[in-house]
Amino acid sequence: MKNMKKFCFLLNSLLLCAVMMFTGCGRAENETEKKSIRIGVSLYQGDDTFINNIRGELEKCAKAYEQENGVKVNLDIQDAKGSQNTQNDQVERFISLGCDVLCINPVDRTAASVMIDKAMAAEIPVVFFNRQPVEEDMDRWDQLYYIEAVAKESAVLQGGIVVDRYRENPESLDLNGDGVVSYVLLEGESSHQDALIRTEWSVKTLKDGGVPVEKITGGIANWERSQASALMEQWLEKYPGQIELILCNNDDMALGAIDAMERAGISGICAVGIDGTTPGLEAVANGKLLGTVSSDKERYAGAIFTIAACKAMEQEIPPEIELVEGKYYHCPQQIVVKNQ
Ligand code: BGC
Repeated sequence: MKNMKKFCFLLNSLLLCAVMMFTGCGRAENETEKKSIRIGVSLYQGDDTFINNIRGELEKCAKAYEQENGVKVNLDIQDAKGSQNTQNDQVERFISLGCDVLCINPVDRTAASVMIDKAMAAEIPVVFFNRQPVEEDMDRWDQLYYIEAVAKESAVLQGGIVVDRYRENPESLDLNGDGVVSYVLLEGESSHQDALIRTEWSVKTLKDGGVPVEKITGGIANWERSQASALMEQWLEKYPGQIELILCNNDDMALGAIDAMERAGISGICAVGIDGTTPGLEAVANGKLLGTVSSDKERYAGAIFTIAACKAMEQEIPPEIELVEGKYYHCPQQIVVKNQ
C-alpha cells in the first residue's frame, strides 16, 4: 500500500512535469491567472503552402494548450492576402479586440515599423515569423520576437543533398556525360531574405563540394508552384535536352517544375526543394523530388505559440525555447531524401 502511494505520487509528479514541459510556461508569480487568452495571427498569404502547414500546427498547439491548461485560447487567424494595408488594418482590429499578443507573418518585411508602432502604443508583444523585419525594427522594443528556419542552413543542407548524390552517382546528374552539371534555378520573392541567401549558399555548397556546375538560366517564381511551372515549361522548350538539375528555393516551386516536366513527358531530371511541406515530402517519398530540407513545423509553430502564450499569461518564456539575443528562435531543419 505504502509503495502504491509512493508510486502514485511519483506518477502525479511526472505528469505535472510533462504538462509543464508541454505548455512550456513557468507558473506566474501572481495568483490571479487568466482563464482565457486572445492571440491575433496575421498571415501574409493564407494559401502559401508552407505558411498553411504552420497555421495547421498553430491550431493544434492551441487545442493542446487548452486541454492541458484549462485556459481558453481565442486564436484569431486572418489572411492579409498579400496586402500590407490589409495587414495593418488587421493589427488595428486585433488591438481593438483586446488581443494579449500578436503573431505576425509580415507581408512586407521592410514595413513592420507601422505595426510595431501600434503594438508598442498598446503594449502588446509581437511574435513575427518567416518574413524577417529589419534589425533596426527588431531592436526597437524588448517585446518583439522572430521565429525562422535559418536560410543559410537550409541552403547548405540543400546543396549537400546534391553533393552527396553526385559523389554516389555522378551520371544521375551529369546526364549527357560532358563532365558538367547544367542547372536551372527557381527563386522566391526578390524582397524575401530567404530567397537571395538560399540561392547564394546552395550554389556555393555545390561548388565547394566538388560538383562541376554551370548555370543555364534562372528566374523568380515568387515561391509559387504555377509560376515555377510556367517558367520551367519555357526553359524546357528553349534548352531541349540541356537541363540536368533544378535548384529551387522552396518545395512548391520544385513541384511546379516537376508538373512542367510531366506535361512535357520528360523524366530523369533531378529537382531539390526546401521546406518539407506535406506535398513536398510526398514527392520525395514517391521519388519525384530528389530531396528537400524540412524544417520541424511542430517546433516552429510550437515556438511561436509558446512565446505567445507565455506573453499572454505574463509568464517567463521557458529555456527550452532557446532564444538568440533574447528574441530570435531558429527552428531545427533536416535533410529528407528517399529511404532515409
Ligand atoms: C518558404 C516558402 C514560403 C515563404 C513565404 C519561405 O521561407 O520556404 O515556401 O513561400 O517563406 O514567406
